[in-house]
Amino acid sequence: MPAIVIIGAQWGDEGKGKATDLLGSRIDYVVKFNGGNNAGHTVVIGNQKYALHLLPSGILTDGVIPVISNGVVIDIEVLFDELEALTARGVDVSKLRVSANAHIITQYHRTLDKVTERFLGKKQIGTTGRGIGPAYADKINRVGLRIQDLFDENILRQKVEAALDQKNHLLVKVYNRRAIMVDEIVENLLSYAERLRPMVGDTALELNRALDDGKIVLFEGGQATMLDVDHGTYPFVTSSNSTAGGASTGSGIGPGRIERVIGIVKAYTTRVGAGPFPTELFDESGEFLRSAGFEFGTTTGRPRRTGWYDAPIARYSARINGVTDFVMTKLDVLTGLATIPVCVAYDVDGVRVEEVPVSQSDFHHAVPIYEEFPGWTDDLTGIRRFEDLPVNAQSYVLAVEAMSGSRISAIGVGPGRDAIIVRHDLLD
Ligand code: GDP
Ligand code: IMO
Ligand code: MG
Repeated sequence: MPAIVIIGAQWGDEGKGKATDLLGSRIDYVVKFNGGNNAGHTVVIGNQKYALHLLPSGILTDGVIPVISNGVVIDIEVLFDELEALTARGVDVSKLRVSANAHIITQYHRTLDKVTERFLGKKQIGTTGRGIGPAYADKINRVGLRIQDLFDENILRQKVEAALDQKNHLLVKVYNRRAIMVDEIVENLLSYAERLRPMVGDTALELNRALDDGKIVLFEGGQATMLDVDHGTYPFVTSSNSTAGGASTGSGIGPGRIERVIGIVKAYTTRVGAGPFPTELFDESGEFLRSAGFEFGTTTGRPRRTGWYDAPIARYSARINGVTDFVMTKLDVLTGLATIPVCVAYDVDGVRVEEVPVSQSDFHHAVPIYEEFPGWTDDLTGIRRFEDLPVNAQSYVLAVEAMSGSRISAIGVGPGRDAIIVRHDLLD
């Protein structure tokens, strides 16, 4: 089994680390291929809780080689903070590989992210403020800084000068902020160069060689399908390709290498930041999901918006990503509800629509059409076999599976690493 991709199938925070954990020691490499420290992964191992942002959650698995590939935007200060924090807790991070072609997030990207959001006022996207959008904008605009630029001071200085030439006009004249000094940026970046040097290389070559040698490479997507810059709810999205295709462009492996695409869905839906969300709840059910599921952002601490499961979104994700298996997380959170509504289609201006509409206006108008399923009261957290689940929980999973466009191969029943029911082996 060569390359396997894990992606979020909703709006993020589905519990993507759960699937990584499930594959555990069978993986040789784990690759972060998109996004940056906008991601927030909480992984619970025994009584230890880890919060990761820039590093892939697979870094916590012994013996796995973690890779940050070319599609990622790296805030170097955050990288070293995370590495130090993990080292202090006894995690071996010495094998980390970083692509020479990955782009760098600097202070001016963070500043621009925050001021543009402030400028948008009510129309803001609700970004994480980590400089993600401005760093990707520079990459596409061909004025970005790459990791390899750290090893040539002249080139680095020229690139920072060119970037700041434009940006200081914007910062000073439009946003009324102070200009950022070239030296300040260059010196800060150079201060990390020698520590970074041994980790940096041609990760595309390394990953292709690993696949040639029959190694198992897991690509761990940050964010999710509905936040993808091409396929998500644009403009309320992040600035990278968080869908399965991003694993190929974001790492330099051919798409034909990918044999499994694992989509992670919550048993309900959440979203952080602004943008359309048809099944969003504003009543006590929404509050119930937020408190029972502990739905507060790992990165920003913001309360997550909550809503019922949306089957058209799952089908959309199955299609866009070529999902071969779903892992459904947080089924345990639904325990105690008398009935559980599932969105099966939308009403768009009086017309029943089965699939996610391509028009942004139609999606904004989409009103969910629900089917209701009976709930259960038994605690699920100790259950490890599907047939031991309460009958109503089994029926819920089977009904949702039939609507979601791919099989549900595993079900999360608690935050812990081992709180999972496996129905089909993800590597078979
Ligand atoms: P990610 O962004 O997809 O990596 O997910 P996050 O870490 O942001 O959010 C998922 C949260 O759900 C984490 O706090 C996990 O510990 C927790 N979690 C994952 N799977 C389950 C599950 O099956 N049940 C419960 N109750 N919590 C889970
Ligand atoms: P993980 O990997 C949930 C959201 C932000 C905002 C939009 C753009 O933990 O699932 P950005 O800072 O990327 O420019 O913000 O995307 N967002 C996420 N929401 N989970 C994430 O990552 C997210 N990363 C970004 O809230 O709406
Ligand atoms: Mg998260």
